[in-house]
Amino acid sequence: MVESFTFGRFNHQKLDFKLWIAILWIVGVGTVFLWQRYAIDGFRIFGRTSVGPLPQMRPVAFNLTDFGGVGDGVTLNTEAFERAIAAITKYANRGGGQLNVPAGRWLTAPFNLTSHLTLFLAEDAVILGIQDEKYWPLMPPVPSYGNGREHPGPRYGSLIHGQHLQDVVITGHNGTINGQGQTWWVKFRRKLLNHTRGPLVQIMWSKDIHISNITLRDSPFWTLHPFDCQNVTIKNVTILAPIFEAPNTDGIDPDSCENVVIEDSYISVGDDAIAIKSGWDQYGIKYGRPSRNILIRNLVVRSMVSAGVSIGSEMSGGVSNVTVENIYVWNSRRAIRIKTSPGRGGYVRDINYRNLTFDDVRVGIVVKTDYNEHPDGEYDPKALPILQDISFTGIHGQGVRVPVRMHGSDEIPVRNVTFRDMSVGITYKKKHIFQCAFVEGRVIGTIFPAPCENLDLFDEHGQLVKKSVSHNMTDIDYDF
Ligand SMILES: *[C@@H]1O[C@H](CO)[C@@H](O)[C@H](O)[C@H]1NC(C)=O
Ligand SMILES: *[C@@H]1O[C@H](CO)[C@@H](O)[C@H](O)[C@H]1NC(C)=O
Ligand SMILES: *[C@@H]1O[C@H](CO)[C@@H](O)[C@H](O)[C@H]1NC(C)=O
Ligand SMILES: *[C@@H]1O[C@H](CO)[C@@H](O)[C@H](O)[C@H]1NC(C)=O
Ligand SMILES: *[C@@H]1O[C@H](CO)[C@@H](O)[C@H](O)[C@H]1NC(C)=O
Ligand SMILES: *[C@@H]1O[C@H](CO)[C@@H](O)[C@H](O)[C@H]1NC(C)=O
Ligand SMILES: *[C@@H]1O[C@H](CO)[C@@H](O)[C@H](O)[C@H]1NC(C)=O
Ligand SMILES: *[C@@H]1O[C@H](CO)[C@@H](O)[C@H](O)[C@H]1NC(C)=O
Ligand SMILES: *[C@@H]1O[C@H](CO)[C@@H](O)[C@H](O)[C@H]1NC(C)=O
Ligand SMILES: *[C@@H]1O[C@H](CO)[C@@H](O)[C@H](O)[C@H]1NC(C)=O
Ligand SMILES: *[C@@H]1O[C@H](CO)[C@@H](O)[C@H](O)[C@H]1NC(C)=O
Repeated sequence: MVESFTFGRFNHQKLDFKLWIAILWIVGVGTVFLWQRYAIDGFRIFGRTSVGPLPQMRPVAFNLTDFGGVGDGVTLNTEAFERAIAAITKYANRGGGQLNVPAGRWLTAPFNLTSHLTLFLAEDAVILGIQDEKYWPLMPPVPSYGNGREHPGPRYGSLIHGQHLQDVVITGHNGTINGQGQTWWVKFRRKLLNHTRGPLVQIMWSKDIHISNITLRDSPFWTLHPFDCQNVTIKNVTILAPIFEAPNTDGIDPDSCENVVIEDSYISVGDDAIAIKSGWDQYGIKYGRPSRNILIRNLVVRSMVSAGVSIGSEMSGGVSNVTVENIYVWNSRRAIRIKTSPGRGGYVRDINYRNLTFDDVRVGIVVKTDYNEHPDGEYDPKALPILQDISFTGIHGQGVRVPVRMHGSDEIPVRNVTFRDMSVGITYKKKHIFQCAFVEGRVIGTIFPAPCENLDLFDEHGQLVKKSVSHNMTDIDYDF
């Protein structure tokens, strides 16, 4: 309506016919727009502007309390979330809507997102996952896994879930999504669960997903699981779970996803901080969707049970074109790991690691080719993964027991590995700390510790200094 007031100040004589048509069009569209807003939410149209100082990123914004939400940590808010998201669904073709979750503790059962939605968590807003598994719907297994990851058959859905969406933003002023995973971890360890646990946030078959400026904590299972998605950005998030006894609480698992950026974040969890995946054995091979074009940078990560940044072990759809840079891994069991096994098929290739700092980690760089967990007995042991074209540049740190353990095998050799500019301070022994088996590749310049003899040595100018006698020598020692 603002437009017609503005034009009212002009001399009408000078407005030509086209401009009048344009004004009529704007007034007409505006009237229809307002009428639709009234039709959907009646008298609440003007009350909605009470959302206060939060930034508004969509044409309309709602407050969870508008839908009966009660943030007392006890009242169940599932219906409030569902009603709010249903209301926003109606704005899909008008730029979508924003749902503000104010400060408070908002207990909920799992709910589904919609497209063109911004879920905004105010400072001190906490979405709490209900712990009673009766409230968690069962869903078919992820198709590229064939079975639930922990049990055959269906698996629990995620606390916050979405399928076939586009343009979803989850952000805020560092509000929290808390899965209250403690009861799930205990039940899992006591073998009281009959189905695979649910992730905290799982978005499947979707595109244009942005997650930023929030905290995710205590997921029952993997924390953030984008599956078969395109254009996913995860920025400035904090992901937390206890570093021990929080089984499988991976931080972020991009799974059969393309065009993913994960940056400027802090992750300390009970399993891999990041694990790039693409399906499991025969199911992943059949589904056939790789994870590719993935950029991971500027992270501080910690994992006492698994590793900082992993690829696999489920990688049967292939993983390629991954850049991992400016990563600080502290107080961890492993820093970087590629894990696979016979039966996986697929490939891991064109993987570039740059500027990694390891501070107090047991094993820095790990390749493991006998990670023998399988979905069932039907996998093909002759489906051998390919590992090649992997480079490490600018690897530094201190307090590392075993800087490198690349354990290829006769069946799954590791090909075309490059090391350049590496100096890692060691703590334990001076020998057998750059361990290799069935590894082919090169070192450019001098590195510390001295590389295994499987690698060719080149000088800084790329001139061959010493050719490896054999790529197949084995110097793997798991005793330290
Ligand atoms: C949401 O509504 C509640 C209750 O009316 C109010 O206290 C709060 O400030 C509102 N928050 C936002 C973010 O709009
Ligand atoms: C979310 O949507 C999926 C797919 O339609 C469905 O299987 C699931 O039950 C829904 N979850 C909830 C909590 O409604
Ligand atoms: C990261 O998010 C927090 C809120 O969680 C915000 O205060 C901070 O400015 C953000 N930083 C960047 C670089 O975006
Ligand atoms: C966000 O909250 C988490 C958990 O309380 C905290 O560790 C982190 O430092 C906070 N981030 C910012 C940018 O304030
Ligand atoms: C698992 O199955 C057993 C046997 O059917 C049943 O007694 C138990 O309640 C189930 N547990 C859960 C968490 O569903
Ligand atoms: C995250 O916070 C920063 C700093 O406040 C802000 O510039 C950025 O726009 C926020 N991101 C989103 C998606 O709101
Ligand atoms: C992903 O983003 C790129 C460029 O940012 C764009 O060209 C492409 O169309 C997007 N893909 C999808 C599926 O949205
Ligand atoms: C590799 O991924 C990056 C994003 O990390 C992208 O910009 C680049 O185009 C990709 N390269 C190829 C060959 O697809
Ligand atoms: C290397 O990574 C560290 C974080 O681990 C960062 O502080 C530093 O700026 C990075 N160096 C370059 C040259 O990007
Ligand atoms: C070896 O890997 C590097 C990337 O690390 C790649 O640029 C190069 O083309 C590969 N060499 C061969 C022979 O494939
Ligand atoms: C080394 O192992 C590779 C792959 O298993 C094999 O093709 C090659 O013949 C072996 N070379 C030697 C010298 O044993």
